[in-house]
Amino acid sequence: MTLPLVLVSHALPDDWITSLAGQCELLIGPPLGSGLAPELVQHMPEAAGLLTLLTVRIDEALLTRAPHLRVVSNVAVGVDNVDLAACTRRAIPVGHTPGVLTDATADLAMALLLAAARRLPEAAADAAGGRWGLWSPTRWLGHDLAGATLGIVGPGRIGQAVARRAAAFGMRIVVAGRQPASPGPAGFDATCQPLDTLLRTSDFVSLHVPLTPATRGLIDAAALRRMRPNAILINTARGQVVVTDALVQALREGWIGGAALDVTDPEPLPPEHALYQFPNCLIVPHIGSATHGTRRRMAELACANLLAGLAGQRLPHCANPEVYT
Ligand code: GLV
Repeated sequence: MTLPLVLVSHALPDDWITSLAGQCELLIGPPLGSGLAPELVQHMPEAAGLLTLLTVRIDEALLTRAPHLRVVSNVAVGVDNVDLAACTRRAIPVGHTPGVLTDATADLAMALLLAAARRLPEAAADAAGGRWGLWSPTRWLGHDLAGATLGIVGPGRIGQAVARRAAAFGMRIVVAGRQPASPGPAGFDATCQPLDTLLRTSDFVSLHVPLTPATRGLIDAAALRRMRPNAILINTARGQVVVTDALVQALREGWIGGAALDVTDPEPLPPEHALYQFPNCLIVPHIGSATHGTRRRMAELACANLLAGLAGQRLPHCANPEVYT
C-alpha cells in the first residue's frame, strides 16, 4: 500500500512529529527559510497533505499546483498566511492550533506589559552600561499596575487569559469586542466598551485580535492619537494590526508612553528600522508561543489535524469549518 505524501514545510524536532511515522511518506523542508522550499514545491502535484509554518503563504497559486491536496495543517493558531476561501473552494480543510498556546502567549503579553511598565530594558541596559550610579529616588520610574486600566482588544482565549493575569495584579479590565462571561468562567470582571472609549480610558492596551481584513490597520494614527500620553501599547497578535509608520510617529511625537511588541510589520524587523531607536519601545522576535512544551504541543496538534484530514475525518481544530457544510 502506498502511503500518502505529506510535505512538511520546515524541519521540526523528530519527537514532535512521531505520530506521523508509518502514516505517510514525509518530505521535509529546511529548518529555516521563508516560503515553501523549491524542492518541496516541485512535489505539490503529488502531495496529499501539507504541514506548514506561518511563514509560508498558502495561496491560489500554490494550491493550483496541488490537485490531490486533502489537508493543510498550520503549526500556528493564526491562519492569516492561508487563503481560507481558496482552500474551502477546493474542499481542503485547514487545521490550526488554538488552545495549546493560550497560556504561553498570555504569559508573554504580561511579561511585555510588566517590562514596559517598569522600564526593564532601559534599566538593564543602564546597569550593564555602567550608568547605575548611586541609588536614586527619581530614576527609572515606571507605572503601577494595581489600579491601572488594561484595555483588551479582542477578548478571545488569549485576551481573556491576559485579563485573568492582569486582574491578579489588581488591574481594572475593559474589553472591546464581545463581552466575556464575567466574572463567572472568565475569572475576572470586565466592562465592555467601544474601541474608541477603550483607547481613551486605558493605561495599557493589549491587542489580541486575529489578522483579518477588518483588523488590518485597526491601530492607525487616529487610534494612537486617542490613547493617553502615558499609555503603553502591547501587541502579541499580528504586526499588521498596527500601522507601523503611525506607531513610529506616535513614539517620536509622544502621543503614547511606549510600546511592547512581539509582532511587527514587517517581520523580521530589520535592525536599521526606526522602531528600534526608541528606548520606550521594547521589541522581541515573535516569541509568544516559544516555550518547549507549547511548541511541542502545537506540533502534536498540527499532526493530529493532518492525520484526520488524510483519513477524511473532521479535523480536531479546523479554521474553515464551512468546508464541511
Ligand atoms: C503565532 O503567532 C500563531 O499564530 O500561532
